[in-house]
Amino acid sequence: MTLKASIIADRDFVIAPLDRRVFGTFVEHMGRCVYGGIYEPGHPTADEHGFRGDVLALTKELGVTIVRYPGGNFLSGYDWEDGVGPKDQRPVKLDLAWFTTETNQFGTNEFITWCRKAEVEPMFAVNLGTRGPDEARHFLEYCNHPGGTYYSELRKSHGYEQPHDIKFWCLGNEMDGPWQIGHKTADEYGRLAHETAKALRSFDKSLELVVCGSSNAKMPTYPEWEATVLDHTYNEVDYISLHMYFDNHANDTANYLAMSEKLDDYIMSVAGVIDYIKAKKRSTKQVYISFDEWNVWYHSKEQDKKILEGNDGWPSAPPLLEDIYNFEDVLQVGLILNTFIRRSNVVKIACLAQLVNVIAPIMTVPNGPAWRQTTYYPFLFACVYGRGKALDLKVASPTYKSDVAGDVAYADIAGVHDEACGHVTFFAVNRHANETAELDIGLEGFGSASLVDHQVMTHADLRAVNSAEKPDNVVPKPGSGAAVREGRLSLTLPPYSYQMIRIKI
Ligand code: AHR
Repeated sequence: MTLKASIIADRDFVIAPLDRRVFGTFVEHMGRCVYGGIYEPGHPTADEHGFRGDVLALTKELGVTIVRYPGGNFLSGYDWEDGVGPKDQRPVKLDLAWFTTETNQFGTNEFITWCRKAEVEPMFAVNLGTRGPDEARHFLEYCNHPGGTYYSELRKSHGYEQPHDIKFWCLGNEMDGPWQIGHKTADEYGRLAHETAKALRSFDKSLELVVCGSSNAKMPTYPEWEATVLDHTYNEVDYISLHMYFDNHANDTANYLAMSEKLDDYIMSVAGVIDYIKAKKRSTKQVYISFDEWNVWYHSKEQDKKILEGNDGWPSAPPLLEDIYNFEDVLQVGLILNTFIRRSNVVKIACLAQLVNVIAPIMTVPNGPAWRQTTYYPFLFACVYGRGKALDLKVASPTYKSDVAGDVAYADIAGVHDEACGHVTFFAVNRHANETAELDIGLEGFGSASLVDHQVMTHADLRAVNSAEKPDNVVPKPGSGAAVREGRLSLTLPPYSYQMIRIKI
């Protein structure tokens, strides 16, 4: 059985230039993301800083653009001063967010050094849970001021002569969440974020600042939270952050794969709130969305209970949130990335949470190899080929009824036009369980075209996973049967499949 979808890709129908920072990730001090993830002194591939070379290599292979740090819930109890200076003098402290012990052997300067090696841009966050504008301004001075002041000289005395020049700063994390240390009402947080932003901007007007939006669209305070917080901060910030995690606890694939439509609703509703406040303020400035935590997160919930209920005696860097992703999650991650590409006019930053070991595309074995999860691949294709202008595709596809999002198209597709290298790339997902999707894509205004690359991910078992022992169980394979003829690209998507196809124009 086949289903047919027709699509028009017109060179002149453009959504927006795709901001490459939508291919970011997140490194939090939790579980084995830092310790045993990016940092494992003594590992066979570790460099002089203790950074795992295999994880650095995979980060570069992915082509990640920006990395958020140091949390997450961890942030709201973090004292940045603990993580700088001589390592043997750094305090060991309890991390009350994740019921673990933090050794502080890795901190701000190590992260910046790692970012330079990984060739990614750092995105820092200041603690607005237990702290405020005072610490934030000292931290900024420590990081970015050239010298001659207390905090800049302190940095120099720690061996970092040059300022780090960190441009992106998040004003706290998930401050709407009752689980957050220092949780606040929207008014309390809005005032605090405004005052903190003002202080940071006094130091450098060119900083890009991110204020906290909702932790997810199910929060009782959403979307009033966004309206109140932006009312306080609109003229001082550049982005509002959103987070969303996806799960298939219900074991219902059709609904699971419809959740990216909920994501789309969430983005568009918050874009509406931004515009409302912009109008209310009579502002000419545009605030955008930083979707700085997203991923599938549910496979590890049972196994983490003991630690997360505080019943495991404060371990240091224990395995936490080590979701092992399956083939079904490949489809989900592909759908989420397509949504960000299609909403590139409002979403300018997005961070896959997290980079390594903790709900991550990269996994490591202590003192052993690093390996790629199933979801590594759709993220890789989007990071590497998601360049240029996001195309406003006109898609006609058969649909199905879902409980979570109404009518949902079986064929989901996003496209980008990279004028610099003369390529058009499409990322497509077939949500149908047993029908092949035949895609007929009219290429308008591109001239003659030829196939460059075609990669397909499909698997007989939705629950198939990769592991350290079998790292290549679920991997992309070269596709077949695609053809470009007389200005049309025809493409066949097997049931439940993800594909990336590039054409030269
Ligand atoms: O990424 C894991 C956690 O999820 C983060 O610490 C928090 O911000 C979110 O709730």
